[in-house]
Amino acid sequence: MAEARVPSPFLGLGHLLRLRGDQLAFYADMQSRHGDAVPLRLGPYRSWLLFHPDAIEGVLATRAAAFIRFEPVMQVLAQWNGASLLVSEGERWRARRRQVLPAFAQRRLPGYGDRIVARTLAWLDALEAAPGDAPLLDTDREMAALTLDLAADTLFGERLGDRAGAIGEAVATLSEVAFRESTAPLRLPDWLPTPLARRKRRAVGAMDALVRGIVTARLARPEDDRGDLLSILAEGGAADPVAVRDEVMTLLIAGHETTGALLSWTLDLLARHGAVLAAVRAEIGLAAGSRAPRADDLRAMPLLRAVIEEALRLYPPAYALFPRRATEDVTVGGVALRRGDLAVVVPWVTQRDPRWFDEPTAFRPGRFLADSGWPRYAYVPFGAGPRVCVGAAFGMLEAGLVLATLLQRVTPTSVSDAPAVPEARFSLRPRGGLPQRWHIRSADG
Ligand code: HEM
Repeated sequence: MAEARVPSPFLGLGHLLRLRGDQLAFYADMQSRHGDAVPLRLGPYRSWLLFHPDAIEGVLATRAAAFIRFEPVMQVLAQWNGASLLVSEGERWRARRRQVLPAFAQRRLPGYGDRIVARTLAWLDALEAAPGDAPLLDTDREMAALTLDLAADTLFGERLGDRAGAIGEAVATLSEVAFRESTAPLRLPDWLPTPLARRKRRAVGAMDALVRGIVTARLARPEDDRGDLLSILAEGGAADPVAVRDEVMTLLIAGHETTGALLSWTLDLLARHGAVLAAVRAEIGLAAGSRAPRADDLRAMPLLRAVIEEALRLYPPAYALFPRRATEDVTVGGVALRRGDLAVVVPWVTQRDPRWFDEPTAFRPGRFLADSGWPRYAYVPFGAGPRVCVGAAFGMLEAGLVLATLLQRVTPTSVSDAPAVPEARFSLRPRGGLPQRWHIRSADG
């Protein structure tokens, strides 16, 4: 890998502000101007943008033990995730991860699958009961609401019902706060009476009340295995309520926005690629006919899986991974980092690099049906190595079953010729939402 040219000895506040303005363009521009390893100076830190798969492999996998997640960003997340798996390091992280993993075991997936399909069918029934045969919806908003409903059901067997609006709003606020605080040059103290601080306090209060109430009730009856994630976390009755609360909160927030964004992007791509949509539908028809799909049907839907994987390549919800800090001098992919340096991996750029992906901006799900011709670490929508997404299989199951269920009964169509514009928030979202018309299919459609 070529030695990086150092763009400037000091790149400070200006870069931080550009990062906040248009992160996606900023990262792509840095790679095209300076190559695969770009050192920036952000405040007191030397921060490396690492775009090459070899360096990514080093940071995430082979030399992962030489990095921890950058503390200021983790402190932002810890405000509502507590000391959960997401923000912990070392022995505490290992213990938390061991505790959470059984909830995602392969044998648990069919049960979650049935719940996912049942809730998606209920959502479709409500849509079909609405007046008009092709309602205009903001698909991004709808998918956020649906995945929140699914998260509440699969995590703790709850129907949010009329609490859904308030909880959806609280999660959206926390996500926005996380984005702003983790990219802000300076964090304002919470006691300043800014409107955002007020919304944040309300959101933390609403989430805390919801999750604490549910967790306390369940821990009081640990024998009550309802087949949801919380039952597994609570197993044995010895669970520490604060730890369980932190994990549930984390899974609720980490799992719902990312999967919602993935569904939105996939539906936008399908609405714009009629031939792929028709082929996916034919595949769903062969695998499940008109009955409700099940988790094991997904094995017979390789094209649907490839469509989702291609959507994750083009529009990775985690467009940039959490920054890491080197805890020792370490060389990754030929780049020498000093102790204290930050490392930033940007799937948005690497997954669109023409060296690894032919016609990188084209939607070509077929590339995931053939043998992948790209280096393994050129495609990391779920991260990789020891801190790979703990919910990856669950997220793929959820996306597959929601899409299979929806596409049996509705056809989303774009209302604008221009593709949705990706915007870097906490996840990658369509700027201004994703307006689509949802045509209800006739039985023979
Ligand atoms: C399409 C959906 C999803 C995407 C794209 C996604 C992406 C990611 C990525 C990239 C990471 C690693 C971040 C890093 O290394 O900096 C991660 C970690 C994590 N994800 Fe996901 N995720 C998804 C769904 C889920 C779901 C459904 C859950 C839980 C129900 C979940 C829970 C977590 C947790 C707890 C971590 C932290 C793991 C650790 O630090 O050990 N994610 N996710």
